[in-house]
Amino acid sequence: MSGPKLWGGVFDKSPDALAWAFGQSIKSDLTLLWEEFDVSLAHAEMLARTGIVSELEGKELVDGLLAVRFDVSSGNVSIPPDSEDLHGAIESLLEAKIGETAKRLHAGRSRNDQIVTVARLWLKRRCADLEEVITRVQQELLRLAEDHRGTLMPGYTHQQPAQPITLGLHLLAYFWMLDRDRIRFGHVAQMADECPLGSAALAGTSLPIDRTLTSKLLGFSSPTPNSLDGVSDRDFVGDALHACATLMQHLSRMAQEIVLFSTAEFGFVKLDQAYSTGSSVMPQKRNPDFAELIRGRTGRALGHWVGFMSMMKSLPLGYNRDQQEDKPPMFDSVSLCRDSLELVGGMLGTASFDTCRMASQAGAGYSTATGVAEALVAQGVPFRTAHELLGELVKTGIASGLSLHDMAESASPELKEALLAATPESSVALRTSEGGPSPGALDHQIRLARDRLRTARPATS
Ligand code: ARG
Repeated sequence: MSGPKLWGGVFDKSPDALAWAFGQSIKSDLTLLWEEFDVSLAHAEMLARTGIVSELEGKELVDGLLAVRFDVSSGNVSIPPDSEDLHGAIESLLEAKIGETAKRLHAGRSRNDQIVTVARLWLKRRCADLEEVITRVQQELLRLAEDHRGTLMPGYTHQQPAQPITLGLHLLAYFWMLDRDRIRFGHVAQMADECPLGSAALAGTSLPIDRTLTSKLLGFSSPTPNSLDGVSDRDFVGDALHACATLMQHLSRMAQEIVLFSTAEFGFVKLDQAYSTGSSVMPQKRNPDFAELIRGRTGRALGHWVGFMSMMKSLPLGYNRDQQEDKPPMFDSVSLCRDSLELVGGMLGTASFDTCRMASQAGAGYSTATGVAEALVAQGVPFRTAHELLGELVKTGIASGLSLHDMAESASPELKEALLAATPESSVALRTSEGGPSPGALDHQIRLARDRLRTARPATS
């Protein structure tokens, strides 16, 4: 009914079967398998160096843990699925391997400081990995932006044609969103970069442990300063879930644009077959399912963050079993981010953009009107007056089916020149302000983006 227990002594009865199963975390704990070994190895080494166990016992513990790790990684031994959690499972495998000495490992620590140390170590490593994958997607966006620095397309506000822009500008918007995500994961890694091991159950230990040593062995910057905070704090999980939700929200917006721009009505982009699916009914269909799933699963990432914050908000200090619920959402959000990034990178790298179609729509909906108004401002006309004038012209154009260009001949001499120049090309070329779409401004932005990638490094690894 129930597997190996770490707390049998005071009990003379086994737990109820459903209660045992309800409390088990072994399945999700497996995600932390390698970090669990790392933490126990560091602890064993510290026990020997501080003389809490003898040198020989320390060697037995370390060699035993390494042997169990080898057995597990090579598939010779599997983690007993009826264990309560991973800590108990590894201790029982160690005991099976080296016998009585295994019982010396749990001195000066508790599962409470163990689990949070393991989780912090895991998260630091995953953050470094995510930073790297984000960088790869940024590189893809930058490459495409360079290719499409002059590709005209409509820019939208309220999803209505607003002003002509370039595909380069559009893609780089996502570059900077992802750049902030990359930096955010660097911060998350920093928040996780203190070692709670040695906080023990909540109040430290009377044994002469060396927390600086275990912290160093595990690659943390320092031990956590307060034993009670050390076992209670899960802020780093909240930070991770927030960073994941924000990243997913960015990817979801991109996914939505992929869905929209690949419709027959827009026809701006076509996804490669590797990233499309067909319909079981309609043979002509090519559906952007994976972009839709990224968009759909973003709700899950946001839910994980909100759920976690709700779980934590009323917990008193000290370890509470509720805190076991922090890990499944963290694992899910992190793997969702990773998969979504890989998919987005693949989609972007293989998509084909219909640049003619985009350019043909770039001036639709009188989107060059602001450019004409600004040309009048350059001639000394107040902007409000120019806006009014252009509004009237657009009204006439809509009523008579004429473009701004068509109406140039009958316009006043000052207006005529501006109307004749009101093409999407010139509209873009004239928007030279920093951060804008003109070729010069975009080249400057591309240089900034390249510099950013050159200096991008995982904050902690
Ligand atoms: N499975 C537990 C968790 O994930 C490990 C710590 C259990 N501690 C305890 N005192 N029951 O939080």
